[in-house]
Amino acid sequence: MTTAAALTNVPVDETIQISHLQSNPYAIYRRLRAEAPVVRVPAIKRIMLTKAADTKFVKENWELFSSNDPLTPMKRAFLADTLMRKDGEEHMRERSAMAPAFNPKVIMGCWQPLYTQIAEDYISRLPRGETIDLFTAFAAPYAARCLTHLLGIPEASDADMIRWSQVLIDGAGNFGGEPALFAKTDKANAEMDALFDKCAERVRANPDQSALSAMVNAEDPIPTSQIYSNVKIAIGGGINEPRDALLTILYGLFSNPDQLEACVKDNMWNAAFEEGIRWVAPIQVSSRLVMQDTEIRGYAIAKGEVVMTVQASACRDEELYDDPESYNIFRPKASHQAFGIGPHFCQGTHIARRMLAQIVLPMLFDRFPNMKLADPEAVKFWGFGFRGPLSLPVTLN
Ligand code: HEM
Repeated sequence: MTTAAALTNVPVDETIQISHLQSNPYAIYRRLRAEAPVVRVPAIKRIMLTKAADTKFVKENWELFSSNDPLTPMKRAFLADTLMRKDGEEHMRERSAMAPAFNPKVIMGCWQPLYTQIAEDYISRLPRGETIDLFTAFAAPYAARCLTHLLGIPEASDADMIRWSQVLIDGAGNFGGEPALFAKTDKANAEMDALFDKCAERVRANPDQSALSAMVNAEDPIPTSQIYSNVKIAIGGGINEPRDALLTILYGLFSNPDQLEACVKDNMWNAAFEEGIRWVAPIQVSSRLVMQDTEIRGYAIAKGEVVMTVQASACRDEELYDDPESYNIFRPKASHQAFGIGPHFCQGTHIARRMLAQIVLPMLFDRFPNMKLADPEAVKFWGFGFRGPLSLPVTLN
């Protein structure tokens, strides 16, 4: 039988393994951008696209490149299809249902003061003069607490939010179908569903500005199964990205003291934020299913193939950025794809900017002006789908 793969002229790279992509993806992406920007990688069962123009083309053409990647076990993990795997009107309907909670006026009037208060509480608990891991002591719990309010589930503990998020991510990446991982997602789904039932009752009686309240109290609500699965996708995606973004930005600033000084002196936190997520995109890749035979850069791509758009690589494309491998907040302002592009563009973009660039970064350095990395050599970045430092030990002064 002739397979779709045999019909294409896309080069194959057998050398790339998942472990390489987890430990040091950027050297691979730099080589691919120069030598093979459209390449089949058998280890991930997909065709990788590493140039910014190609990732943009794919993500903006949703009719040709569907979000419903059949290779991911996401549906099994979430026990439903989430909005991230839908296209067209169906996707818009579910995205719009959550939209009131992400509205700029609501961010300014409601989330800004609340997140400032949360940041003050959590930063005031950090022990001055000691060395702590900012990953566990601050970045993860701060992201979790902010998210509970945005979603309308403040009854959830930080620890549960962090555990659910990781379990959902592990389940969505459980390509081998490991039963133990799905047993954990099943347990987490049951716990979340029970909590969401209680929270839905509360916001029905007392509507507020959360995403759950907007969805439950809508005139023509989407089905409860979809309300719940989309709250879950936000739990799966709303903790690790702000956490990893914050730790990456801090590492970039600590490694470049002149840039840190400029941030403090000239209030350049927005530039520090955008440059941090360009430099190491917290979500590195996204997949799309090819709906019709097509071509990219002259390579034939058959219907049924899955292409992986590597936004991490697009964000370091030499065609767009000088010296793209460096963290440099002084580089000329340029757009990037770390928040994605097209109809699935990150719904939490403005929230993330507010949480980190406008609230936490200035506050951390105001409280601890002499904060330092305890051991710069000990900071290790890791991850293929999601990427960030595994820990960030700092001395607080
Ligand atoms: C620095 C932080 C963040 C980064 C870098 C980031 C990145 C991304 C990216 C790349 C996508 C698109 C994935 C694709 O194309 O398949 C996405 C989607 C999404 N993000 Fe974020 N994200 C961040 C923070 C957040 C936060 C705080 C929330 C809050 C709930 C959030 C909610 C979402 C949602 C709901 C989607 C799906 C949108 C859709 O499918 O229409 N994100 N994010």
